[in-house]
Amino acid sequence: MSTLLIRQATPFDHSSPVDCFISGGRIMQISESISEEADEEINARGLTLFPGAIDIHVHFRVPGGEYKEDFTTGSIAAASGGITTALHMPNTVPPITTAEQVEIFSLKARQDSVIDVRCYIGATTDNIAQILAAGDMACGIKVAPYFTGADGRRLIDDKDSLRELFELKQSLPIVIHCEQEDDITANELKYKDSSGWTLHGLIRSREATIKAVKNIIDLAQETQAAVHITHISTEEEVELIRVAKAAGCNLTCDVTPHHLAFTEADLETQGWRLKVNPPLRLESDRQALWRGLESGVIDIIATDHAPHTKAEKDLSDYWTVPPGVPGVETMLPFLLDHITPGFSLERMVECTSTNPAKRFGILNKGKLEAHAIADLVLVDRAKPRLFNAAAIRSKCGWSPWENHEFSSVIHTVIENGQIIRL
Ligand code: DOR
Ligand code: ZN
Repeated sequence: MSTLLIRQATPFDHSSPVDCFISGGRIMQISESISEEADEEINARGLTLFPGAIDIHVHFRVPGGEYKEDFTTGSIAAASGGITTALHMPNTVPPITTAEQVEIFSLKARQDSVIDVRCYIGATTDNIAQILAAGDMACGIKVAPYFTGADGRRLIDDKDSLRELFELKQSLPIVIHCEQEDDITANELKYKDSSGWTLHGLIRSREATIKAVKNIIDLAQETQAAVHITHISTEEEVELIRVAKAAGCNLTCDVTPHHLAFTEADLETQGWRLKVNPPLRLESDRQALWRGLESGVIDIIATDHAPHTKAEKDLSDYWTVPPGVPGVETMLPFLLDHITPGFSLERMVECTSTNPAKRFGILNKGKLEAHAIADLVLVDRAKPRLFNAAAIRSKCGWSPWENHEFSSVIHTVIENGQIIRL
């Protein structure tokens, strides 16, 4: 059993350094000074120690989209950004909607990844039996407008099927992409001859998102299901979720780094590369999302890492550019540059490690304490790094943060007690 000793790292919530002894994939001891001999030692003086980040929303594109990303490239990109656990979304080709597929792709994820990658099962209007059969082989259940049943109906638009799903009362959360697809279809018709950078926001309108969130909250309240609304984008959602939580609803939500960093106005410079679902909104929304994080209404930060190739993203025709941006490499560096009294390092770790672990039942992760699984990240917070094209690890080969200088560097990433050599 290999052992590792991290010497003199400063935990994110401490002011003085500690030693950390790791054996058998677990943290065995954290204290001021450890005399134990280890197989390998890391001199971590001047570095900050964090639990590895848990990203509950990534698209590693397996199966069917491996030309954009796969478990190996996606997990290497995630590790280089300090993410040690990633939950993989099922909008693949074909979609992962059966227990057998969850089993096959969970195994493949384990074999091909350098970090811990787990798979969601997608919910359709007619796969309840499969969801039950998958049980906790799946890391969660995903509801999104792009999943249809054999009958072609969309779950997000079909309250009766949704109620059936919510009434299962699984312990794992149902993760929901809230955009009302029938409203979007109507907008597509309305704006079919329009152009300009605001077009995406007009079609996938804030009203379409807010309406879906209201419907989901109503149903969550009625059924008491564990519901997680992913990638919220508007001020109104923050308020709706605040009120629902205060009323005792079993509800959590997340925000992406791109909705915290950019607004619709940034499409002027980055073009359709910043076409994402749900769309980037207004500066007032961006600020409301930060306030939601600070106040605790927003529980989790998740990347929605959605790699598409540069060629696909640089198409000039709005209608053919696929939505999504990569994010796993840049989440922690971006957040570390936005630490304020309101959004402290402690709050960041709650949103990127502790809360994801709690909500998704990821046992023994997301914390720096004896007996926890040794998923750890050492960060040099005083070493600027230019994130240029040559640095990008995702197969998609581009990033909305390309050529941005971050003020921190991810120094070492340890997963299950092993240093990941990148
Ligand atoms: O921007 C997005 N891209 N939003 C989604 O919901 C899907 C994702 C993707 O898979 O590319
Ligand atoms: Zn997504």
